[in-house]
Amino acid sequence: MSNNNIQIFDTTLRDGEQVPGCKLNTEQKVIIAEQLDQLGVDVIESGFPVSSPGDFKSVQEISKIVKNATVCGLTRAVENDIKVAAEALQFAKKPRIHTGIGTSDSHILHKFKSNKEAIIERAFAAVKYAKSFVEDVEFYAEDAGRTENEYLARVCEAAIKAGATVLNIPDTTGYCLPSEYGAKIKYLKENVKGIEKAILSCHCHNDLGLATANSIEGVINGARQIECTINGIGERAGNTALEEVVMVLKQHPYLNLDTNIKTEMLYGISQLVSDSMGIYTQPNKAIVGANAFAHSSGIHQDGVIKNRETYEIIDPKDVGVTESAIVLTARSGRAALAYRSKNIGYELTKLQLDEIYASFLTFADKKKEINDADIHQIIESSKVYQQIISA
Ligand code: KIV
Ligand code: ZN
Repeated sequence: MSNNNIQIFDTTLRDGEQVPGCKLNTEQKVIIAEQLDQLGVDVIESGFPVSSPGDFKSVQEISKIVKNATVCGLTRAVENDIKVAAEALQFAKKPRIHTGIGTSDSHILHKFKSNKEAIIERAFAAVKYAKSFVEDVEFYAEDAGRTENEYLARVCEAAIKAGATVLNIPDTTGYCLPSEYGAKIKYLKENVKGIEKAILSCHCHNDLGLATANSIEGVINGARQIECTINGIGERAGNTALEEVVMVLKQHPYLNLDTNIKTEMLYGISQLVSDSMGIYTQPNKAIVGANAFAHSSGIHQDGVIKNRETYEIIDPKDVGVTESAIVLTARSGRAALAYRSKNIGYELTKLQLDEIYASFLTFADKKKEINDADIHQIIESSKVYQQIISA
């Protein structure tokens, strides 16, 4: 792996599946895991094995079928969780145990009713125990976003001493600003003894809509793994969206950071996840939303028809979308109407277009969107129809 390669850790099947009402069965999870493996993700977090027999089974079945990616299972810093995760992962070619504990004052004082030293001891013991089962152990410091950096560095140091290969720095509540999250990663890179033995991982939630920006700041400042989900699904406002971070890195090559993702598969897998979970993606969702490559205002349509790049920074084919859409509404201009008419077989002269455009606007004022059947109807009922078809 080059030092500029960003590992993509997909947690659609664990953090993503924590969305209320979107429970997946084992068969659906296996299908998604197969697609994630083909997509080129480096790690698939397949579940939280101790949480239920169903999740245990899903992690086990996914471990059997994944060919390339590391398969990961989540645990708390609890011996039984770790033992059960190791069992569920026993068939994985590349197993990883992801264990950890809350490190912010709020977690230490209220959730654990404990103290800072005791939490460091638990972190160390959990990683050490996980290492007795697998070589690859990732440690998470839950609520790292609200943990003061000096203490966080001490926890990370203990986890590395116990053998952690990856240190996950979650902004669990989606609180950090990008500059703050980037500075946290930089601080850990510069102040944790032994940091060269592990990689830092960004795990950002989207409560303030900053998950993608925070993850990107994290990797700019030295993290080498991003934890994310397809369509950004996850608890509350969700996780970092996989398709967004991958395309940010691809569209900004001067950052010199790349991933192993086959981006042409992004749209298909987004559809698969949203259909399987019954969670429909907002139309304006970046990269995979229904309107991400759709143009409806006359000025934009004219620009895109002349040159796609006028209003598009991504070639839709790069993310698996067949082509940009020119959507006809009452805001559309003549260029768009001529373009869509040509697509269904009508070559219109300027005069014919003027004639048809007037009836088009009357029609479009009554209907939200004009489809191909509507265009046929508008043209067929126009005065110039005979001229058009005999040309
Ligand atoms: O958001 C979070 O802190 C998590 C951890 C359990 C990794 O999902
Ligand atoms: Zn999370």
